[in-house]
Amino acid sequence: MTDSTDDIAAKYGNQDSTAGEAEEEEMADPVLGDDSLGHVALKDSQLFVGRSEMQIIAYIDQHERDGLRVGNYVCIPYPDATTEPNEDEVLLAAIDRLEYRPITEVNDWVDGGGYSDFGEQNLAYVSHLDPIAIVKHDRLKDTLTRQTVDRPPKPGEDVHLIEDEEILRVGLNIPSDGIYIGDMAVSGDFIPNDENPLTYLLSNPNSTDGTADEGEPAIFRHLLVAGSTGKGKTHFSKNILRQCAVSKQYPIEVPPEEQEAFGIDDDIRHRYLNLFVIDPEDEYVEMRDDNPGLSPEKARELEDKGVAVGGLDDDLQVFAPVTANSQPTLDDIRTFGIPFSVVENRPQLLLSSRPKDPTFNAIRNVLNAYFGRFDDDSNDEPTYNDFETWLELNGDQIVNNDNILAAVERRVTGPIYDRVFDHGSTSLDEYTNDMFNRGQVTVVPTGHLRGETEKLVLLALMTHIVENKIDTGVEHPQIKGTPMLLCVDEAHEYLSSTDRPREQYLVQNFRQAAKRGRKDKFGLYMVTQNPQDIDDEILKQTNTRIYLGLQPEIVERIRIPSDYDDRIVTFDKGQAVVDAPDVRPVEVQGLDVCVTNHSN
Ligand SMILES: Nc1ncnc2c1ncn2[C@@H]1O[C@H](COP(=O)(O)OP(=O)(O)OP(=O)(O)O)[C@@H](O)[C@H]1O
Ligand SMILES: [Mg+2]
Repeated sequence: MTDSTDDIAAKYGNQDSTAGEAEEEEMADPVLGDDSLGHVALKDSQLFVGRSEMQIIAYIDQHERDGLRVGNYVCIPYPDATTEPNEDEVLLAAIDRLEYRPITEVNDWVDGGGYSDFGEQNLAYVSHLDPIAIVKHDRLKDTLTRQTVDRPPKPGEDVHLIEDEEILRVGLNIPSDGIYIGDMAVSGDFIPNDENPLTYLLSNPNSTDGTADEGEPAIFRHLLVAGSTGKGKTHFSKNILRQCAVSKQYPIEVPPEEQEAFGIDDDIRHRYLNLFVIDPEDEYVEMRDDNPGLSPEKARELEDKGVAVGGLDDDLQVFAPVTANSQPTLDDIRTFGIPFSVVENRPQLLLSSRPKDPTFNAIRNVLNAYFGRFDDDSNDEPTYNDFETWLELNGDQIVNNDNILAAVERRVTGPIYDRVFDHGSTSLDEYTNDMFNRGQVTVVPTGHLRGETEKLVLLALMTHIVENKIDTGVEHPQIKGTPMLLCVDEAHEYLSSTDRPREQYLVQNFRQAAKRGRKDKFGLYMVTQNPQDIDDEILKQTNTRIYLGLQPEIVERIRIPSDYDDRIVTFDKGQAVVDAPDVRPVEVQGLDVCVTNHSN
């Protein structure tokens, strides 16, 4: 045996036998685990922390090797680091690599491989550590604070698997209050341990909790949930949205139109959130109901953890769009039609492909002339049928080139417009105040619609929402003056980079809305299996990204936090990487139950 294996044997023996009493004393310090994994090592390598590069390697004791995984979190104390007697400092780090290195002359080129006397005792198992933060513990005040890593730990210092969830929380900068997303995990195993995993929360300062001045809620900095089909995007999202629903108020500027109409003097009011969900598969409607598979014991356990549980009942209202030949079959809903007036000032909504400039200008002129005939006092409403007739009779007075007029007619007439506009007894405009009620979850199911019809209906609806949110002098100050989280499942269908004018128009509006989200209290929550298709500008504004399991060909085309791009392809249902503002990307395991009904 060489000197170094003697050292190891001495240390190994120490751990098992004589150190008992000494460890009892260390237990008094709450920030460290009671057992070390090994120690900071120097042999054959350098130990350094620099501005751009750092290298910290730990030797792992033989009996600790099997349980360790890449991604595990460890801490290393800095003894006598501060001159304050009541302060301790530890380095929080993640295991970046696990590696065997020979420490004697190993020859495993022999018959019988593992049965020869070559084995763990001849090998060092070393762990490359990725330093995250220094966490300072003030024992008198019992507070933890986080600092950047500005020095290496001492060679020989014990390395502990992290057992104190608060060190982990502070070191990773995970908020201690907020919206519950899931529990922290490494390779699917909860950390620090199964019984008491660290809850991962999204920052959500609000007026109800008296924390509104502590920064911007993550919801108004936009979220993306991406994952392959069946990986649990909708399940995960229902659980998150249930946490965001109804109970918190946020400060918002009262729009001038509303101040005027209601004689309001305040510039800022504290208002409940409207959570507005676009539901292409009629799944979010189920958030009204309890999950019949969730036992009362489990529900209580979750509530004790601070997780909101249970169907939303009347706090969730359903508004389904009707078209010419499709009626929703869901119970207890209100139906609305898309009025042709949504096209006023938005000729793009009538364009499924890009026309030449003269045609586009002519379409704009025709629509301006048509809508110009209705003033505020008029009892007549513009309708699509009326527009078609009017165009036939008057088109040549507005457009005096026959070819251009024919091109205009080809584009603005067609069965899809007959199907979409002006159906049902109540229009989107009439329901706007009810739909954007504060403290309400509004779900718009479109499972009864198909193809281009569904698309046009939703593009019109989303344009109505976003323009009323970002414009000035808006028609519906209810939308502008309400803090709102807009959830779009299958978001790649509507928010992708495209040259189709209709979608492009919406995307441009959304880009602007996403930029102004914090000011206007407008959050976008996108759910998709094709994150690579979402418009880049919108993605850039999306600060929280939750990646569930994804196929390798998609991982290649998007930016996944680098420690996870290999592993994400093997993720099980509910296993996710969460990348949130100011927080290091980490693995999180979402709840295996849905806190509301999810029947599929
Ligand atoms: N963490 C989880 N644990 C156990 N079951 C889950 C988990 N997440 C999802 N499931 C179940 O897996 C199924 C698929 O989940 P979900 O509908 O959320 O997938 P999805 O990613 O939205 O799929 P799609 O792309 O088809 O919309 C559902 O039955 C759901 O209840
Ligand atoms: Mg889904």
